[in-house]
Formats: sequence, C-alpha cells, structure tokens
Amino acid sequence: MKLTYYGHSCFAVDIHGKKILFDPFITPNELAEGVDPEKIEAEYILVSHGHQDHMADAIDIAKRTGATIVSNFEVATWFGMQGVENTMPMNLGGKVDLGFCQAKYVNAVHSSSFPDGTYAGNPGGFVITSNDKNFYYAGDTALTLDMQLIPRFAKLDLAILPIGDCLTMGIEDAITATEFIQCSKVVGVHYDTFPNIKINHQAAKETFKKASKELHLLEIGQTVNF
Ligand code: NI
Ligand code: MN
Repeated sequence: MKLTYYGHSCFAVDIHGKKILFDPFITPNELAEGVDPEKIEAEYILVSHGHQDHMADAIDIAKRTGATIVSNFEVATWFGMQGVENTMPMNLGGKVDLGFCQAKYVNAVHSSSFPDGTYAGNPGGFVITSNDKNFYYAGDTALTLDMQLIPRFAKLDLAILPIGDCLTMGIEDAITATEFIQCSKVVGVHYDTFPNIKINHQAAKETFKKASKELHLLEIGQTVNF
C-alpha cells in the first residue's frame, strides 16, 4: 500500500493500483503550492466532514476524474447538488464495499458545517480494510473513548491521526489514541497549515519515541510504502 501526502489532512492511498483521495485541501494551502491538483487521480474521494480545509478541491477533482465522493449523508448530498455525478452517502457506523477495499465511517468528536455555516452532518473518520493493509484515518477529532471500538473492526497496520492541537487532538492525546486503537505506527496530519496548529517536529517525534510509538511526518508530495 502506498501513501502520498498532499499537505494538511490530504493524502492519497494506492491499493493495488486503485486510488483513494482523502480530504482534498490543496489550492488554498500555501504549504502545498508544489502540488498540482490537476494531476491527482482518484477512484474515490473520502471526505471526513464539511469543513473547507477538508474539501476545498473535492468538486474539481471529482468532476475531472469522475471519482465518487464518499462522506456522511449531508456532505455527500451537498456535493450532488454542486453537480458531482457520483456520490455515496453514509452515516456513522455504516460500511461500504468499494470493490478493492471496504470503508467504515466512524465517530469523530468535532463539528461539521459548510462554508456558509449550514449543517454538514456529523463529522467522522474512516476505517479502511482490504486484502492489502488496514488503516484508520481519524479525520478531525478529539481523543475519544469510541476509538477503543476500532480494534473490533480491524487489526490496523497504520493510523493517520491529527496532531496539531487547538482544532483537534494534539501529540499527547494522539499517543493515548494509539493505545485505544492498538496501532503504534502513525502518520501525523492537521499540523503546521495555520498559525494555531504549528508544531515542533523534533519534539513531537521524540515524545512518540519515548512512548515506544512511531510518528511519521511526511514531506508534502512524498510517497511512502506501508
Ligand atoms: Ni474540521
Ligand atoms: Mn480541519
């Protein structure tokens, strides 16, 4: 399984040549100016919630690639109203078969609204299971006891967790999350993009290491094999 990081909470996962893009926020992200969203291919675009920093480029990429947008009922329906042809509305606790993997929409403790302030359903994260690897993308969330359910859904190989603090959980809570989800290997997201979520990379990695956990902070545009 290959993971490419596009900055903030946006990344793509390649499973046997099929691509899932998560939370596209590229054009408005100054740190991601080296990424060309027009070159990104996707079979599916998974959107964790309705905040702009998780979906700014979703409409353009979906229209160009024909990708199906998978999200909560309100967000998926909204994309349909914006002219996106293929959408897959879900709700918390539900699982869908995407052919090359399965996606389960799980609880996130956060908020969710569209740019105009209207209600964008409950925020969530995704547990992805496949015959390659299994991983959990938490979306934007606080540390929550609900994460203890995740090992019942999948034995995880990797977790993609927000670590920037202020708007989501920070480093210490992310380490506790690794215990709840029983997965020590973490790719950090949702940090550095805005002044209120800037982190000290070295200190973050050392804090993880002291807890015998692995924190990967990828360069924007970097692809890694997991
Ligand atoms: Ni958010
Ligand atoms: Mn966010």
